[in-house]
Amino acid sequence: MARKFFVGGNWKCNGTTEEVKKIVTTLNEAEVPSEDVVEVVVSPPFVFLTFVKSLLRSDFHVAAQNCWVRKGGAFTGEISAEMLVNLSIPWVIIGHSERRALLNESNEFVGDKVAYALSQGLKVIACIGETLEERESGSTMAVVAAQTKAIAGKVTNWDNVVLAYEPVWAIGTGKVATPAQAQEVHCELRKWLHENVGGDIAASTRIIYGGSVNGANCKELAAQPDVDGFLVGGASLKPEFVDIIKAAT
Ligand code: G3P
Repeated sequence: MARKFFVGGNWKCNGTTEEVKKIVTTLNEAEVPSEDVVEVVVSPPFVFLTFVKSLLRSDFHVAAQNCWVRKGGAFTGEISAEMLVNLSIPWVIIGHSERRALLNESNEFVGDKVAYALSQGLKVIACIGETLEERESGSTMAVVAAQTKAIAGKVTNWDNVVLAYEPVWAIGTGKVATPAQAQEVHCELRKWLHENVGGDIAASTRIIYGGSVNGANCKELAAQPDVDGFLVGGASLKPEFVDIIKAAT
């Protein structure tokens, strides 16, 4: 089964109204492969989500960068999955390493968030990835398998899940994983899915790479058989994000 290439742009905590308008104008003017070839989802900060959605071309979509773990209520500062659905926001990024590290989001908490978001009808980009220390100690696969297991333990329907492998040591560092490094982990992750979740889900679930992807390295990474797309940070704020979308195979 062919897996549609997926390119996500995680804008993180960046932007002003003017800067956001400029990014959206660049995206709206871009000549890119059709939606049949590549799925493009950009993720502005919450405060710009509906604004970007209102201006963005109809073949691109938006994602929130997080959502709360259960129904809304007395959870000051949180954004519920129901609110995103109410605003017709279709996607949400969950479990980004910056939230795991800075806000102590555990594997279990991320698994619960993924399950709840899916239960409310959202589509989820679920993030996993090891630290440099974990890679250097040889525990990369143990770490990403545990992160994936915590999600698989709460999720039965993977139709609306995209798995984003983002080695922490490559995020924001310019030290992109080599195509071989990315392919190795993506292939092992697909094997893990095959053995622990099921063959069809393993074959159909998109596993995307994130961590210092840019216009220069995207083509070689995209050529890897188990790299089904990207989750792009810094470069998604720049015109080269269009080049990354064009790397769709
Ligand atoms: O979620 C994507 C992000 O973590 C990757 O960031 O700046 O290394 O592309 P960057």
